[in-house]
Amino acid sequence: MTIRPIVTIGDPVLSAPCKPVTDFGPELQALIRDMKETMYAAPGVGLAANQIGVDLALAVIDLSVGEEPGRFFVIANPRITAAEGEQSEEEACLSVPGVSEEVTRPLRVRVAAQDERGVEREIEGEGLMARALCHEIGHLNGRFYLDELKGLKKNLAYRKARKAAKEE
Ligand code: NI
Repeated sequence: MTIRPIVTIGDPVLSAPCKPVTDFGPELQALIRDMKETMYAAPGVGLAANQIGVDLALAVIDLSVGEEPGRFFVIANPRITAAEGEQSEEEACLSVPGVSEEVTRPLRVRVAAQDERGVEREIEGEGLMARALCHEIGHLNGRFYLDELKGLKKNLAYRKARKAAKEE
């Protein structure tokens, strides 16, 4: 297992939709182990493959950051199939260091995704889990959580984020 460097805002791999995962072989298993290790080391509750520079629609989530068994999720080729309600909370991102912003997300989501073996699964998330699912799926679509902001707020947040990333 290797802790991989996390790429930050400004790197083009974060701003384009990721390629679908088609091969669930040993290379993908090694990548998932590295992503898990990198997420726990950061520490973070979620990590998308493009955050370590890998152009694949793959993300890992663990709201307990490795503290509780059974909380680790792999989502490959995920898509949101249902969303309801609304929540507004402070959000941050390992690829957008030094800033956080309050963003509005659905309160509950249902996500269809493949697991680490390629088996089709359905995951339901509420509250923080819904937020994490939306945040990571956003990455895989080439978006940052800052894209959930609107107009001037979004422009200011991006300016602040780019400046903070340069100072890292
Ligand atoms: Ni993020």
